[in-house]
Amino acid sequence: MASHLAPVFAQYPLEVVAADGVWLNTRDGRRVLDLYGGHAVAALGYGHPRWLHALEQQARSVVFQTNAVAMEVRERAATRLVRFAGLGLDSVFFVNTGAEANENALKLALRQSGRSKIVAVEQSFHGRTAAAGAVTWGAAEKWYGFPRAPFDVSFMPRRDEAALAKHVDKETAAVIIEPVQGLAGAFDMGREYLLALRRRCSEVGALLIFDEVQCGMGRCGEPFAANLYGVTPDMITTAKALGSGFPCAALLMAPGVASQLKVDALGTTFGGGPMACAVIEAVIDIIESEGLLANVRRMSKLIRESCVLGPVTASQGAGLLLGLRTDGPAKDVQRQLLERNILAGTSADPHILRLLPPFALDEDHVDLLRDALKDLGSQKLAVGA
Ligand SMILES: Cc1ncc(COP(=O)(O)O)c(C=O)c1O
Repeated sequence: MASHLAPVFAQYPLEVVAADGVWLNTRDGRRVLDLYGGHAVAALGYGHPRWLHALEQQARSVVFQTNAVAMEVRERAATRLVRFAGLGLDSVFFVNTGAEANENALKLALRQSGRSKIVAVEQSFHGRTAAAGAVTWGAAEKWYGFPRAPFDVSFMPRRDEAALAKHVDKETAAVIIEPVQGLAGAFDMGREYLLALRRRCSEVGALLIFDEVQCGMGRCGEPFAANLYGVTPDMITTAKALGSGFPCAALLMAPGVASQLKVDALGTTFGGGPMACAVIEAVIDIIESEGLLANVRRMSKLIRESCVLGPVTASQGAGLLLGLRTDGPAKDVQRQLLERNILAGTSADPHILRLLPPFALDEDHVDLLRDALKDLGSQKLAVGA
């Protein structure tokens, strides 16, 4: 049958028909361990009963009202998110996608500062809309599609403290950074660099935006990477794990940013819809009540200790945003793992296999990965012999 979907996605060689926990069922009858979680979205895995219950209850009660109508569930979700973060960023603007959250953060920074330059980081990914794409590394060559960026952008090398003073200056409205880069291959910016960046932003009056669309909401083993590194930005954007499969995103703002907002400064139809808010509340509740942050830290440690073998030579990243460095092309290892019923991701770095599994991963799942990698290693030795 001819497909009527726009031909813009490369697809993995599997078709998923159902899923539960950390497992995908495919059309050809396989059970595949999902270590990729749909680009980091499926933080709670699939079919969590309390996630399903929250959705069902809200759908039966009020399926939708815009922000023009007050709803308790929206207030509760915002309060819960602010408390979960625990960073003093006490104002939330709910939107729908990561790119949209970044778009709004950049808009606020430019407007509030009256400056026209944004500093971003090499290898970053912030989304595909006009402003988010403009601060995404390499977008112009690959897919940007707009004749020019809507503001001045300067890219600085990552984790390079010496380069901060040159790029971040009194013309800079904001710096946008993924504290742990996702698509780039789970590249961790580190506490020292982020502290130096925070200091420089404060010195010159630039706002600091953490794009935690991929690394936030527990994926680093703390609520946000900001908590992990002890560095508080002026704004955080988050999405993906926030709804664990229900599309939603949020922009968290420090009081200094929020206090300048006026009615109609920002807007959205679907953002902050009751279904999204009910899910956000449930996701945070599940992460907290099931001790998932501690599990993320434990499983991260276990993977880093036990899965550097076979084609894997090193590991990087934080929590369950992990990059496994491979001796050959990561795409080949990804294919070989999928032949063994394990789905892993790749990244912009051709030698990094990216893992973004659900937070409730356990030792048995890690053992499956370890054994598969070991098997790949011994096969290679046998072929070489
Ligand atoms: C760090 C980061 N920022 C922004 C985005 C864009 O999010 P969305 O696809 O929801 O617009 C992504 C998506 O992969 C991301 O990883």
